[in-house]
Amino acid sequence: MASIHLTFKIFAKGGAFPEYWKGMVNYMHKLYDASFLQKSTGKLFSLITCFALVTGVLGGCGESVGNVPEQTQPVETSSQESDIYSGKSIKTIGISMPASQLERWHKDAERLQGLFEDAGYDVMLSYGDNLIDTQIDEINKMIDDGAELLIIAPVDSDSLLPCIEKANEKGIPIVAYDRLIYHDPNLLAYVSYDNYKVGTLQGQFIADALDLKNAGESDKYNIEIFAGDPADNNAIYFYNGAMDVLKPYFDSGNITVLSNQTSFYSCSTSSWSSDLAMERMEIMLTSYYSSDNVLNAVLSSNDSIALGVCRAIEASYKKDNNIIITGQDCDTNNIPYIRDEKQSMSIYKDLKNEAYATFCIVESYLKGVSTGEDLSKGHDIDFEITRDTTSYVSDGVAITSYLLTPEVITHENVDDLPE
Ligand code: BGC
Repeated sequence: MASIHLTFKIFAKGGAFPEYWKGMVNYMHKLYDASFLQKSTGKLFSLITCFALVTGVLGGCGESVGNVPEQTQPVETSSQESDIYSGKSIKTIGISMPASQLERWHKDAERLQGLFEDAGYDVMLSYGDNLIDTQIDEINKMIDDGAELLIIAPVDSDSLLPCIEKANEKGIPIVAYDRLIYHDPNLLAYVSYDNYKVGTLQGQFIADALDLKNAGESDKYNIEIFAGDPADNNAIYFYNGAMDVLKPYFDSGNITVLSNQTSFYSCSTSSWSSDLAMERMEIMLTSYYSSDNVLNAVLSSNDSIALGVCRAIEASYKKDNNIIITGQDCDTNNIPYIRDEKQSMSIYKDLKNEAYATFCIVESYLKGVSTGEDLSKGHDIDFEITRDTTSYVSDGVAITSYLLTPEVITHENVDDLPE
């Protein structure tokens, strides 16, 4: 349900949108409220996104660069008070990952499960398969079956309220893993990579590759933008980070988006789907790049999207210039593309470290260390973690976040990646 709501909220907020879209939003809300649609949230969401993207209608609405949803703007926060469960003795950990379809979540799950089982905990593991209802059902089941602490990477950061409330009532602490959970001021912690930094690295890569710093007035480049799933809180951070780096060059006219699809919502890719990204890229190539126009760069938020973009370019782009394409995750499927410089870069996030940081934070907490202190301290951690107490907000409360540092990978160092 919240996926729809979030998407509608985002659509409705765009100042550039005509009243027509607001009417459409209200209508879709009503439709959604009719219960027969509630079970098919994922399908309806994809349908709307496809409709919006494929028709390109949203893109034609006079967008301004860097138009982002309100939730990333600074808000008044009170401080987190999640010590209520600290020092609790527990045996069973429930781990809920968002999707089995995307490579990284298997690795995350495997690593988390291994660490907790080796330390003597029982682990319950489930995947949301990119469906909100499935994830809610799975989490409720884990709670009913006796999970005493939950580690959750949400399909939709907005939608888990029913099981969050249930966990809170039962005194079950929750760690938001990789993706923030909205609506839980009691979160024990948020553990992730620095999502904004991921975006700045992608944007900077494009700026450097096109040498935009030294670009003269007549140097003009065309770029297209592929953001992530709007239901995933991280997607906005990736987009913002990249757009903040690129904005001066949009302003100077050195880079242009021919499709005019620049706002977060019009560039977003439901479920981070390779197929949707491929379809959208194909349409753009046909619509804007079949004449003399050259496509110089594609800002793609992650590797599953980059894969779709690369496939569309292989199939339908007839010019012989190298297109700069960004990504994230260093997925196995993308490695050959990176090696061949068809995908110019990816971001490496060592999932072993993310899982280990989570494990350490949970261990400290269960030993009674307060969330006001640095829960990552006192462990054998040999990688950088930044403790951030202001940037990530759940229901008006700033959640203590532990952010790891992402790394750029190109054809030059792709073969040095650990297995
Ligand atoms: C993760 C990315 C991943 C994307 C799709 C995001 O929340 O941070 O690493 O590419 O989800 O799975």
